[in-house]
Amino acid sequence: MTREAQASDVSESEAVVAEVPSNIALVKYWGKRDSLQQWPANDSISMTLSAARTRTIARLLPLGQVDQLTINGHRVAADDPSAQKAFKQLAYLRTTLGFDAPLAIQSSNTFPADCGIASSASGLGALTLAAIAAWTGQTSWDRLIGAGYTRELIAALARRGSGSACRSFFGGFVRWHAGHSPETQSLSVLASPDQSGPWELSDVIVIISDLRKAVTSTQAHAAAWSSPLFAPRLAGLDQRLKQVEAAIAARNLQLLGDIIESEALEMHAVAMSAEPSAVYMSRETSEFLAWVRARRSEQRLPAWFTLDAGPNPHLICTAEDAQRVADLVHQDFGYRMIIDTVGTGPTLFAAQMTANIQSENRQMRAVAEDLSW
Ligand code: PMV
Repeated sequence: MTREAQASDVSESEAVVAEVPSNIALVKYWGKRDSLQQWPANDSISMTLSAARTRTIARLLPLGQVDQLTINGHRVAADDPSAQKAFKQLAYLRTTLGFDAPLAIQSSNTFPADCGIASSASGLGALTLAAIAAWTGQTSWDRLIGAGYTRELIAALARRGSGSACRSFFGGFVRWHAGHSPETQSLSVLASPDQSGPWELSDVIVIISDLRKAVTSTQAHAAAWSSPLFAPRLAGLDQRLKQVEAAIAARNLQLLGDIIESEALEMHAVAMSAEPSAVYMSRETSEFLAWVRARRSEQRLPAWFTLDAGPNPHLICTAEDAQRVADLVHQDFGYRMIIDTVGTGPTLFAAQMTANIQSENRQMRAVAEDLSW
């Protein structure tokens, strides 16, 4: 059974605008128990970001037309490899939710894609939120929730497009619980001890390379089980998750920092020792990580690294120290950087498809292309 998209609230010329941030995992999601249902091998914990995000504009097209997808200013066809995940997600949402209206979708990142900044999390998250808002005609979170589309439901739907996307639907520090079955997965926000808002941490993202990665995270997730290091990793993770939760609750950066560095290196060790093997770090990455540890031991750099499936380190530090950290990196390496901070999660609003929105999107692309710090 298909449902007519409710075009009453979103007229043909009106668009919905969804902005979904990226997130950086402090305890990584690596390996899946069920890849179709995106059931992870382990719980993960992330920090939701703020500046690194995807803005996606969606508008209904008349029935009979085909979906139009534009990513970072380029129109992409359904058979374009770079858009396969997006078209697959639209097909999944249609089958699951029963909507059939075609959509015109424009998506822009504030950061380069496929370089170790989780563009799939914000990209698939924003696509899911924008498509559902356009089909249902709901142009704010309150109205979407009123129509039965809770944050948890949309996060679970986004998870099918990209596992890590589900964590981006909440602000602050988020734990994705694997549960005992694909259906019992859940998300929780790690409470702040005094309820005064999340811990003000920054993520200085160092862009060593923005080249597309050779092994996708989908391929590497599947290969993880073949690594001799994977079973010992899973056996020790409960303890690490507890330590990370405790460090966040106590706002103890030194404790958190030491754990996230071991965690990132362990995930990379699993990827490298799997069959097929994936080496995401470049020579420059290794040199940079050694530099971080050396400067920190000299008390000059109050920051700890983590890495996603890519060569670009994320330096976690207090928001207060972020500029100083970026200055030191700039002075010694000259790399481009994004100075990001803990964020509050996605936004959704209605907007006319005017020149204004179009030009704002162009500006976002310009920011992504010229990250000159
Ligand atoms: O959501 P995916 O399939 O792109 O996998 C993300 C995996 C990591 O970014 C490396 C870790 C994580 O938990 O985000």
